[in-house]
Amino acid sequence: MVKLEIEHLSKRYWTERNATAVLALSDVSISVGDGEFMAIVGPSGCGKTSLLNIVAGLLPYEEGMVRIDGKRISGPGVDRAVVFQHSSLLPWRTIAGNVRYGMEMQRRFDEAIMRERTDYFIKLVGLTGFERHYPSELSGGMQQRVNLARALAADPAVLLMDEPFAALDAQTREFMQSELLKIWAKARKTVLFITHQINEAVYLADRVAVMSARPGRVKDVFRIPFDRPRTLHLKRDPRFLELEDAIWQLIEEESERLGVVLAPD
Ligand SMILES: Nc1ncnc2c1ncn2[C@@H]1O[C@H](COP(=O)(O)OP(=O)(O)OP(=O)(O)O)[C@@H](O)[C@H]1O
Ligand SMILES: [Mg+2]
Repeated sequence: MVKLEIEHLSKRYWTERNATAVLALSDVSISVGDGEFMAIVGPSGCGKTSLLNIVAGLLPYEEGMVRIDGKRISGPGVDRAVVFQHSSLLPWRTIAGNVRYGMEMQRRFDEAIMRERTDYFIKLVGLTGFERHYPSELSGGMQQRVNLARALAADPAVLLMDEPFAALDAQTREFMQSELLKIWAKARKTVLFITHQINEAVYLADRVAVMSARPGRVKDVFRIPFDRPRTLHLKRDPRFLELEDAIWQLIEEESERLGVVLAPD
């Protein structure tokens, strides 16, 4: 069953008092099945964040169609939660208060459940002991983990993630990847996950869509055949490395074509 359908979507940003337009997305079509983990990779500036923000209902679009459960997206909704590329915490709320926030918006959890889930997800992202701290007292990586906890605690049908682990150190990043897989295996949410790291996309996803440089189009979609549950050993499997390499080559072609550098982070 299809959960999210993106059909012939184009996005234009108008700049300089509407004198010129930047075409950020051009004729993008992707469909994501219910419970599917879809990753999107592509060079910097190819429109990944724009695409995610449109699906989140935060950015208007004029050309094409985006639907969830067959209904056109026309604004944000409780069926979706977003983990942004940069921390988006409320500075006046504590860490626990921020994690609660997503659930409060949903209005379907009672107080005891909210408390329990807040503790559970703070623990999951390794921040027990920081419940009463404020975001400004945490490092960027810690703040990003709070963002993740907030999105997961809200238990949305569709989880939208824009490079959620980019600010984390390599070790924490791998830990979070594995934790995300465990959570996803249990909850089977539909996930749209944007990343610069091909390795991360192949490790996590059922399919990886590769976008071309601006204006972003879907160049190819790779089906990731590895069994689940997956462990970090998979990253050393020759078939894994082969697939990673094939995706690299496709992106490299694009990057060379436009002289863009893909951050190898
Ligand atoms: N508000 C805006 N106004 C004008 N142009 C914009 C705006 N937001 C994004 N753009 C342009 O649209 C293009 C796509 O931007 P977007 O942030 O979606 O790319 P991205 O793939 O997420 O990049 P990165 O990998 O660096 O995060 C870029 O060329 C950017 O300059
Ligand atoms: Mg981006």
